[in-house]
Amino acid sequence: MKSFAFRIALFFLFMPSPAQSLEHGVPAGLAADFIHAVVEAGRTTYSEQVVEHLAKQNSLTASENWEQEKTLLLPAQFLSMSSKISNSRGIGMKYRLLSLWPLNNHNAPRSLNEKLGLEEVVRNPGKPFTWVVPRDGRWYFEAIYPDIAVTETCVTCHNNHPNSPKTDFKVGDVMGGIIIDLPLGRRTEKNVDEKFLLAPEVVADYVHSVLESDRTVYAQHVVNRLEEQGILHSKEKWENDKALMLPAQFLLNSAVKSKRLGLDYRLISLYPINPQNRPANEFEQDGLESVEVHPIRPYIKHSKVGRKTYFQAIYPDIAVTRGCVNCHNGHPNSPKKDFALDDVMGGILVSFQVQ
Ligand code: HEC
Ligand code: HEC
Repeated sequence: MKSFAFRIALFFLFMPSPAQSLEHGVPAGLAADFIHAVVEAGRTTYSEQVVEHLAKQNSLTASENWEQEKTLLLPAQFLSMSSKISNSRGIGMKYRLLSLWPLNNHNAPRSLNEKLGLEEVVRNPGKPFTWVVPRDGRWYFEAIYPDIAVTETCVTCHNNHPNSPKTDFKVGDVMGGIIIDLPLGRRTEKNVDEKFLLAPEVVADYVHSVLESDRTVYAQHVVNRLEEQGILHSKEKWENDKALMLPAQFLLNSAVKSKRLGLDYRLISLYPINPQNRPANEFEQDGLESVEVHPIRPYIKHSKVGRKTYFQAIYPDIAVTRGCVNCHNGHPNSPKKDFALDDVMGGILVSFQVQ
């Protein structure tokens, strides 16, 4: 007994720090870039392919009181709803939209660092502003990425809003930022910076959490709500129509935008409507079978291609609304017609290179 306890004590005494013990990992700075890319891709897809698309079709507008007015959520509300879902999962990583000139005080900076970070990205929008800060016995990596007024509509709405502290925004201005907050090692750890290695499993969980939250907001608060109210429908050929893109297309659309960082994600299934979404290899087949039975843990793999190491994870994709079930069961190309609410319908495959 004694020697066993002693061995445990020795183990803790000489336990290498998490940074050193990782054979492969993702530097915190790159992990934040991944998360930002996914958040930004969802934000752009929603703004351009949903809100602006329907405005051009003279169909539905977006407005602040979307619930009462039966309209679309504003892009900022889409992001904040998605971040609330993701932040409440307790996975450690958090993100949100913020600004020095907020319409909603909830979006004001919450620390001096956040305020200084926002001032810095306004001056220098070419790169994110990052820092490391201790909190509750742990180090955190924080990064603020600029949020730019990409169209005239951003500017007009904010400048004319009764709560806006700033009324002279111009197109191209930095209107605020997206902050990403990542927990690193313990506070006693030395030399903690943006190169601190995070475990690939953890980074994949972060990426997946954003994807899944965006997917839930889009399926529940856009597609399902508007379909149930008989206001709009989602369909495959939405481009030239007063229609919403499918949830699957929303995810694919965002995926295309994140590829330049070497981050890849897509939807696959054992029962695909589109044969291209069937598992492409043994790992994907095994992963889909596994998450169907064990939906709370992703199925993962490290693989080497030449000198590079890649990490892949498959997460279950769940039928979160009736809309998912009804459309798939009723689709002529669907090989499965008896999906039920909360079933695993397929998987989200996340992959990236590790160092
Ligand atoms: C139709 C009006 C409208 C449009 C268009 C609009 N916004 Fe907003 N925006 C709002 C409202 C309202 C909020 C506050 C939402 C909330 O309650 O969190 C907001 C929030 C924000 C925030 C968080 C800080 C704050 O003001 O509370 C940023 C940053 C932001 N918007 C940037 C943009 C950008 C960039 C665009 C264009 C891509 C844009 N907005 C388009 C109305 C609009
Ligand atoms: C209005 C119809 C419709 C709705 C609603 C819908 N889907 Fe799909 N889904 C499709 C179509 C069509 C495809 C094939 C898209 C493509 O061409 O890749 C697809 C693709 C998928 C795939 C990839 C495998 C396949 O079947 O090709 C998964 C997994 C999936 N959907 C799950 C869901 C979930 C979960 C929801 C609800 C959040 C949902 N779908 C909502 C029609 C729909």
